[in-house]
Order: sequence, then C-alpha cells, then structure tokens
Amino acid sequence: MEENLMSGYDFEKHWNNAYQKTPIDSLGWYEEDPIPSMELISACNLPKDALIFNAGVGAPTLIEILLNKGYSNIVVNDISSAALTALKNTLTEYKHSQVQFIADDLTNPSELLNLKNVDLWHDRAVLHFFTIETQQKAYFDLIRKVMKPDGFVILAEFNLEGAKKCSGLDVFNYNEDMLQERLGTGFKLLKSFNYTYTQPSGGLREYVYTLFQRRA
Ligand SMILES: C[S@@+](CC[C@H](N)C(=O)[O-])C[C@H]1O[C@@H](n2cnc3c(N)ncnc32)[C@H](O)[C@@H]1O
Repeated sequence: MEENLMSGYDFEKHWNNAYQKTPIDSLGWYEEDPIPSMELISACNLPKDALIFNAGVGAPTLIEILLNKGYSNIVVNDISSAALTALKNTLTEYKHSQVQFIADDLTNPSELLNLKNVDLWHDRAVLHFFTIETQQKAYFDLIRKVMKPDGFVILAEFNLEGAKKCSGLDVFNYNEDMLQERLGTGFKLLKSFNYTYTQPSGGLREYVYTLFQRRA
C-alpha cells in the first residue's frame, strides 16, 4: 500500500526528515521567486495589516518578500517544526519576531482552531498531500471556520496533468472546479491559471493556481 494511505503513517516525522536532510534551496518545491503567488496576492489589494495565513508554509522566500513589502500581520503554519525552524533561520531575528509560527496539523487542527478573521489564506503544494476524504474535509472546514467575509483564498496544487507523487508521497490532483466544489458556494473563483514550475533539479511540475473570495 502507498505510504500515505498506510494507517498511522507519521507525516510529522516524514516532513521533519525532509527539512533536516536537505538544504532548503535543494528541496523539490523550493521556489526562489514565487511569481505566481505574488501575482495573485497583489490582485487582492490587501492593506498592509491584513491577516495573511500561510498553510504548510515550509521555508519559502515568500515570507521575507511579504515582510519586505510591509505586510505586518503574517501567521505561518507547518506540521513540521523543522520547517518552521528552517524558515526562522532565513529571517533576521527582528523579522521573525514579526511573524506568528504555529506548529499544527491542518487535517487535525488544535491551535489553528483559534485563528479567526483571516484576510488571505495561501497554500502552495500542501492540500494535494491530503489524499483521504476526511483529511480534505478537515482542511476545507478549517478554511470555512477562519476566513473573514470577503477574505481571499489562494490554492496552488498539482493539476490533473501534474505529478502523482511528491516527496515520496501520493498526491491528489486538482482543477479549479474540484477546488470550487470543496470550498462550496460561499466562495467565488476570481482567477485561475496553470503554471509550470521548474524544480532546482530542472524537473517540471504542473500546478493549477486559483484565487477565490469568500462571499460577504
Ligand atoms: C511540498 S511542501 C510545500 C512548502 C511550501 N508551501 C512551499 O510552497 O514551499 C509541503 C509542506 O506542507 C507541510 N505539511 C504537510 N502536511 C501538513 C499538515 N497536515 N499540516 C500542516 N502542514 C503540512 C510540509 O511539512 C511541507 O512544509
């Protein structure tokens, strides 16, 4: 049976190993310049104090870019404390004191349940690891619980033509209709496009990027 369908598989350990074994700029999902995410974030026209939540953040350049642009209310989450430590290490002490770090499981949230009034939810390459219906349900329930009316949701996942595995785990591929169906009618699709990402190794990964807005 595939690894992530095995009951009791330790995802926290899996992801901690990934971040402990490999320098962050060699990870298969490392993106030096997060152009498609920034394009969608800019389209939201958020005030600088908007609450921006990064689900399954890893250790991307995106957080420093957002801080440099003056966004001052950033919350990041990962199941892996090693990822959060790696992210802190990319930031100066001053910058990481401006960010709230939450180690928690998006598919079985505890501390994340305290979030509220989120203006922007950003997920790149996280949701597609949730291959089981109950995991997906927990994830979308959390979005519906924490998002502000009019808040924005960016979901960037492997598309239907995309890879079937990442980091040795199975993935669940999406198109915008599947994301819309799971978010529900309370969210409307504002933009979507396919995007080919080039890995540090030169491999290509096909994504669908989507921007939704919660109806008021
Ligand atoms: C492929 S990486 C993408 C990281 C980052 N979003 C990026 O684009 O660089 C997937 C990330 O999701 C995190 N993750 C996986 N399952 C998770 C879960 N159940 N809850 C929170 N984070 C999770 C992993 O630790 C990892 O950092």
